[in-house]
Amino acid sequence: LQLAVLASGNGSNLQAVLDRAAQGVLDVEVRLVASNKEDACALDRARRAGIPVWARNHGSFAGREEFDAALVDAIRASGADTIMLAGYMRLLTPYFLNAFPGRVLNVHPALLPSFPGVRGVADAVEYGVRVAGCTVHFVDEIMDHGPVIIQAAVPVSACDSRDDVLQRVHAAEHRIYPQALQWLAEGRLSLQGRVVHLAPSRR
Ligand code: GRF
Repeated sequence: LQLAVLASGNGSNLQAVLDRAAQGVLDVEVRLVASNKEDACALDRARRAGIPVWARNHGSFAGREEFDAALVDAIRASGADTIMLAGYMRLLTPYFLNAFPGRVLNVHPALLPSFPGVRGVADAVEYGVRVAGCTVHFVDEIMDHGPVIIQAAVPVSACDSRDDVLQRVHAAEHRIYPQALQWLAEGRLSLQGRVVHLAPSRR
């Protein structure tokens, strides 16, 4: 799988993928890490791993389409065919999604369809859930909405702080995102309506 990773922040999910790819347990090659924030830590992680980066402040573009057009060009030039969103804090335009149909994945820190949006973990904790979790899904034009590939649940007790839950959710993300990518790399995922089917392993 030839991957471009889009990240605006820390990049711990990127790191999880880089680490597993380096260990040889994930058939993914990260061709590009792109960001709309020139100071994103994710870019440092990429540079440390010797991966090309593309970073442009979205404010310096005329609009969303213009930014996404430049991003699509950079991704195409990198040779990547699959896009991993990892803490990428921008909505993608239809132009972008049409450039990589069925090849854009995202991770959300809640058990969708519960708690979409940017405050996934905080909303879940404030709601008082006893099970939190995360979701890796295909991206469509609605935020945190596309077909679910894999989810993981983590327990929440009344004594847990938001940070406790956040840590647990992140650890689960670092497990399930590489798993989803590996399934995609093995060509095992297909869609029926919005339900993702996983074909048996041929290994
Ligand atoms: C993750 O919690 C992910 O679910 C959300 O943004 C966060 C990114 O974390 N979409 P990181 O940048 O990969 O550390």
